[in-house]
Amino acid sequence: MSERTPWWKEATIYQIYPRSFNDSNGDGVGDIPGIVKKLDYLDELGIDAVWLSPVYGSPDVDNGYDVSNYREIAEEYGTMADFDRLLDRLHNRGIKLIMDLVINHTSDEHEWFVDARQSIESEYREYYFWRPGNDDMPPNNWRSLWGGSAWTHDEATGEHYLHLFHEKQADLDWDNPDVREDLFDIANWWLDKGIDGFRLDSINLISKPDGLPDADLKEGLTGLNVVANGPQVAEHLQEFCRRTTGKHDAVTIGEMPELSVEEARRYVGDDDENLSMLLNFEHVELDRGTGARWAARDWTLPELKEVVNRWQRGLEGEGWQGIYFNNHDQPRAVSRLGDDETYRRESATMLATMIFTLRGTPLLYQGEEIGMTNPRFESFDEIRDIATIRSVEHAVETSAISDFEEVKDLINARTRDNARTPMQWSDASNGGFTNGDPWIKVNDDYKDVNVTSERDHPNSIWAHYRDLIALRDQHSVLVYGKFRLLLPDHPQIFSYLRTLDDERILVVLNFSAETATFRVPDAVEYEESEVLSHNGVRDDPSSLAGTDLEPYEAGIYRLL
Ligand code: GLC
Ligand code: CA
Repeated sequence: MSERTPWWKEATIYQIYPRSFNDSNGDGVGDIPGIVKKLDYLDELGIDAVWLSPVYGSPDVDNGYDVSNYREIAEEYGTMADFDRLLDRLHNRGIKLIMDLVINHTSDEHEWFVDARQSIESEYREYYFWRPGNDDMPPNNWRSLWGGSAWTHDEATGEHYLHLFHEKQADLDWDNPDVREDLFDIANWWLDKGIDGFRLDSINLISKPDGLPDADLKEGLTGLNVVANGPQVAEHLQEFCRRTTGKHDAVTIGEMPELSVEEARRYVGDDDENLSMLLNFEHVELDRGTGARWAARDWTLPELKEVVNRWQRGLEGEGWQGIYFNNHDQPRAVSRLGDDETYRRESATMLATMIFTLRGTPLLYQGEEIGMTNPRFESFDEIRDIATIRSVEHAVETSAISDFEEVKDLINARTRDNARTPMQWSDASNGGFTNGDPWIKVNDDYKDVNVTSERDHPNSIWAHYRDLIALRDQHSVLVYGKFRLLLPDHPQIFSYLRTLDDERILVVLNFSAETATFRVPDAVEYEESEVLSHNGVRDDPSSLAGTDLEPYEAGIYRLL
């Protein structure tokens, strides 16, 4: 591995979901001028880079993850001039901009697909997967991630096309060199504008197995397991990096469902030919059951520790990952892993402490820094997330459920809309997000949970995030140190060491709403400990010896 220390390892990245961040013109949809108005806010928090969810031309079936024009800004978000202004102003403040590149699929309204659909002779036909199928039956048994077949039959030519997601998100055939050329051109077009890298959406799905064989569909599996990490993923991504980002010192963050540590090692590296880091899903899927998309399962803390430990140790010296609990696809972590009622502040700051002390780059999601919680969706017409809508519709069609009511609680726990309610800026109407009607409901708790009230309190969740960002900047052991798990079987406490040369940092997190007895394991010898950070749940956190941890207590100690 090279000696070079790229900027993205030490950075803290903040994800903006533009639709829900800040609306500047009262149409109820967040926009780029709205983001520009909040740059002071981001600056004060101390973040180093923004990851911007898609703002390209799109029919918005999946809120921009269905791109119809990669070289324009959707009207609802503003103009290209607005975008250029955003980029400029971020750069003036030393903040980088990472675009979200959705190139496993395009919208069916993209000009390539519109052309491809018209005739078998179209020069774009082979940009996608068109197959005859057996009579009216789809060519294979793959399921869309959101329910139903992954194939849609098209009247015009009588063939079927492949879509792993919605039927308006047609999968591109990356084995076609013309497709790769066109995609590289798009990436270079944005890089030439001066952006600082890409988050690559669903990027380990780009190489489909030869012959598109049937999947072994166990109950509830979609067949994604046969599609992910296909034969050419590593090769295609290396070519992408060589031809685009590698020439620009730009970061590449690969979003990769269904990924093992072994597969991950093939895709990441510190050089210009591999992805900079990847986002795996194992830790956020622990509470997912098999069967329906919303199926739940009980999880235990030792299981979470096992997953985190395996990834931390497995990539040591091999590659880098993004560290996250929250993003636009995940329920709010404070509601999911913490306690958003009695211990909202305590558990939100505990989770933050974890995000900033694992080996990898922290990725925060808007609202996380003020402890935003899952809202409550009472009726199906409040739901906006296409994945939720599709899976409910499909379950009703196949008589797996009778109606939304039947699965309402499960859906409330899981739906991606949990993350997508508007950013809560103040206790003004709609949380200060818009003067109009918001495109999705605002969480009822906005009067208590908002940026203004957080910033008025010295001990707030917001202040803790700001302090942790600064702390990680000061201690390279938090960035580069090795990870060593302690107490793997303890049912309440998550504790680990980070070590770099002779620096040692001990992290202690109480993941429960009860007190927990903590003893530093005998194998960890030290004479003194210095508190570097504490989430303030006890008056005097200075001593580690014989401590009983308070509910959701979290501390970072330097061992001497
Ligand atoms: C990724 C995105 C998600 C989107 C899907 C299809 O998982 O994060 O929001 O629906 O890809 O593009
Ligand atoms: Ca707007």
